[in-house]
Amino acid sequence: MSCTEAKTLKEGNDFEKKHTPIIECKDIVNPEEIFEVKIHTAGVEHPMEDGHFIQFIGLRIGDIPLARADLTQYAKPEMVFHIKAPSKGHEGSVMKLTAYMYCNLHGIWKYEKEIKIE
Ligand SMILES: [Fe+2]
Repeated sequence: MSCTEAKTLKEGNDFEKKHTPIIECKDIVNPEEIFEVKIHTAGVEHPMEDGHFIQFIGLRIGDIPLARADLTQYAKPEMVFHIKAPSKGHEGSVMKLTAYMYCNLHGIWKYEKEIKIE
């Protein structure tokens, strides 16, 4: 399953809200700051049951993988990662975080959020 095929929330119906990850984190960070990135579904929690569950949650900056958590039907479909901002010299730049959520029946979904480095 390629991340380039990931779907995003378009209509905002319950099916999409159940599968689209949302990123909650600060909008502005300092160089090398460790900050919290919470990823969860967009308003409607996805079921976690035998045969239908969120199998992984991943986080990338651009194309670079930062973190990933594999889940089972016994886990809550959300995750908190602690991420280190880029080093000094990147002040004024913007980094694009992309969260991925993979449902074993309904495929991969993504959400993007830009964060400024100050
Ligand atoms: Fe699903």
